[in-house]
Amino acid sequence: MSEMEKPSAGAAGNAMWGGRFDKAPHELVEAFNASVHFDQRLWPHDIEGSIAHARMLGAQGIISGEDALRIEGGLRQVRAEIEAGAFVWKRELEDVHMNIEHRLTDLIGPVGGRLHTGRSRNDQVALDMHLYARAEFGAVMGAAADLQAALVDMAEANMDVIIPGYTHMQRAQPVLLAHHMLAYFWMLERDKGRLADAMKRADVSPLGAGALAGTTFPVDREAVARQLGLSGLYENSMDAVSDRDYLIEGLAALSLVMVHVSRLAEELILWTSQEFSFVELDDAFTTGSSIMPQKKNPDVAELARGKAGRVFGHLQALLVTCKGLPLAYNKDLQEDKEGFFDAVDTVKLTLELFAAMLKTAKVRRDSVAAALHGDFSAATDMADYLVERGLPFRQAHEVVGRLVRYCLEKKQTLGDLSEPELKTFSELLDAAVLQRLSPSAVVGARTSRGGTAPAAVARQLEMARAML
Ligand code: ARG
Repeated sequence: MSEMEKPSAGAAGNAMWGGRFDKAPHELVEAFNASVHFDQRLWPHDIEGSIAHARMLGAQGIISGEDALRIEGGLRQVRAEIEAGAFVWKRELEDVHMNIEHRLTDLIGPVGGRLHTGRSRNDQVALDMHLYARAEFGAVMGAAADLQAALVDMAEANMDVIIPGYTHMQRAQPVLLAHHMLAYFWMLERDKGRLADAMKRADVSPLGAGALAGTTFPVDREAVARQLGLSGLYENSMDAVSDRDYLIEGLAALSLVMVHVSRLAEELILWTSQEFSFVELDDAFTTGSSIMPQKKNPDVAELARGKAGRVFGHLQALLVTCKGLPLAYNKDLQEDKEGFFDAVDTVKLTLELFAAMLKTAKVRRDSVAAALHGDFSAATDMADYLVERGLPFRQAHEVVGRLVRYCLEKKQTLGDLSEPELKTFSELLDAAVLQRLSPSAVVGARTSRGGTAPAAVARQLEMARAML
């Protein structure tokens, strides 16, 4: 086709690939096939990638330098139109790539058709998704860091607050509230590590792979990658166009973020219940009931717990999409996008909300203090006391177990025991043990690294601050 000829929509109605067709796609096929309603969000990356590709084509003499400049100018104009909200996305043009290229040719004429030299939509879409994923992994890491900062602030503001610690959802040993909150700091720290790792695999350029086998043109793949700030290249063109590992890894990392936020959500739901009353959420992060006037519901936390399942679903969906695919590109891969986009949107919004919600949450110090009384969460400390006096731990455990049963029968706690009573259970016990049983003594005694003693938690807090 000479440059003077306009690309013809022909009978097929599609200027991008209509040449060999007699008929346009069935209306339902058009609806089924189109991705522009969701992949249009890739436009900044699509244009950035096309500019890098056009410059390389010019520099390599694959197209003239003048054409490369005209293409770049046209792409900038398309970008301006999209930014201004003036761009008209067309479903019949299928996807973001063809919408942009079509508009480019509208603007600069048939020379726009030279942009796609040595490139396929298969390596183009892969490039767009790599750039998108790399940027979004960074954005999620930032949102995770903001939630970490909120956790650290909450820990610091409540260093003197002791809450019951639970195992099996039964009172176990008291802990600092700060210690409890900082546990989530470390989970998010690992999440950021996983996202950074997925980002490394997103940080490679598939461009130059063509449809699957490479290209006949003397492209400079390194130059394109360099211009886009991508650190590496795929070494196999078939791998380059069919790889979605970096998205699956990303979805796995995002799923774990949601596991962690959902666990925190569950705690907040429990803690804001009347039964616990450890925390009160700000009105702005709760909702009321249309029938029960007294209600203040932790909907944000419940939705976060609910949305976790949705993100896990996207991971599962992409695993299943990829598992049976022969090499190389298959249209099934277009299904990678909606789930990934939704996962990114969901996780970012959830993290942002949790940071804001924690910043405004109030710890109900009175009810937390009241919750610490009348339980047996100092029992381990009584056993440890016997161990210090020479009794093997297993025997000490047995002695204190019998003491607990005795107290339960008498409807009292360990702290109510008299010295003569203690002596009937073990000669090694005396009244001094009673000093060890207050929540602050129990907490203060756990000075091991990573333990809940104020000094150990202060050290942890300092590390956390330094890491942020
Ligand atoms: N919209 C497609 C996708 O998201 C772009 C690549 C299509 N390639 C093709 N040969 N039909 O995967």
